[in-house]
Amino acid sequence: MSFHIIGTGSCHPEKRITNDQLAEFLDTSDEWISTRTGIKERRVLTNEKVLDLAYEASLAALENAGVGAEELDFIIFTTMLGDFITPSMSCLLSKRLGTVCTRVLDMNMACPGFIYALDVADSMFKAGKAEKGLVVSAEAMSRIVDWTDRSTCVLFGDGAGAAVLAKGDGFKDAIFTVDGGYENLYVPIWDGNSPYAAPAGQKAFLKMNGQEVYIFAVSSIMQQITAILEKNGMTADEPSFYILHQANIRIIESARKKLNQPVDKFPVNLDRYGNTSSATVPMLLDELNRQGRLKKGDKLVLCGFGAGLITGTCILEW
Ligand code: UT7
Repeated sequence: MSFHIIGTGSCHPEKRITNDQLAEFLDTSDEWISTRTGIKERRVLTNEKVLDLAYEASLAALENAGVGAEELDFIIFTTMLGDFITPSMSCLLSKRLGTVCTRVLDMNMACPGFIYALDVADSMFKAGKAEKGLVVSAEAMSRIVDWTDRSTCVLFGDGAGAAVLAKGDGFKDAIFTVDGGYENLYVPIWDGNSPYAAPAGQKAFLKMNGQEVYIFAVSSIMQQITAILEKNGMTADEPSFYILHQANIRIIESARKKLNQPVDKFPVNLDRYGNTSSATVPMLLDELNRQGRLKKGDKLVLCGFGAGLITGTCILEW
């Protein structure tokens, strides 16, 4: 038996930055950012840490599920960059929440991280290693974008989303693709100061060929959604919601139009949070849950894409 989601939570930093505020120090405008991406504002960390966001999102999810932290059998934490290189964020979160579980795991799978984590969670439930578990995705994109590069820093934001899972049969299927190239989207590592290695001289800022990633996203989302629906004998009309990675409204709209679906089946929150990498999907899921828009038995398609270049797509029954 796999799992179903019994609670969700999310958290974002207090600090809100509008497009106009970015235009105060960058050669950009609200008009450019809004029309090219759909983003109007984003949240950025000031004094909070990634752990704070993850903790608040997890607490909200546990409360929503009616589950105590001591009932968790595992924590999977997805992030591109936590507060430390080591120890892992899942270790730190486990202590902060007061869990007694020892199966804790960090995953760095960029934007589709939450979907990759659900798939790993599925294996834990199927192996009989868990009755309940927590998946949390928390990101601090504001720490890795170059705030002098208008082509990237306007796109991202910080945030966290979490889900509590319990034994059940709500996780129906997942498919993934991995390209393995890094040139179009990556963050280099810092050089260190080894006397034996020549410094690469790169700063640890996110670099992206936006147009290439855009082309990849538009074609791969459609391929993957079509493939998973077909594999599960479903039509595009059957899912109640398509919860897509929130990178660009034009990418989401392209998929929606090709699948010939109404706007409300493709919910969006990128206007308020920008691209929060692996946190976009669980943050949006939490929003729908708290708005009471998810009904028992609803089929949901979750789909993410990002650095790797990778994609992850799954079907959940609520
Ligand atoms: O989660 C990771 C996945 N990432 C993505 O999904 C990102 C996918 N890519 C995109 O969403 C889009 O490619 C972008 C939003 C990044 C860029 O949109 P675009 O329509 O592809 O614009 P562009 O890169 O072709 O740039 C058009 C123009 C350029 O000027 P010139 O060369 O035409 O004079 C850019 O220099 O827009 C300029 N530009 C800007 N202008 C004002 C780039 N960034 C900005 C900016 N403000 N912030």
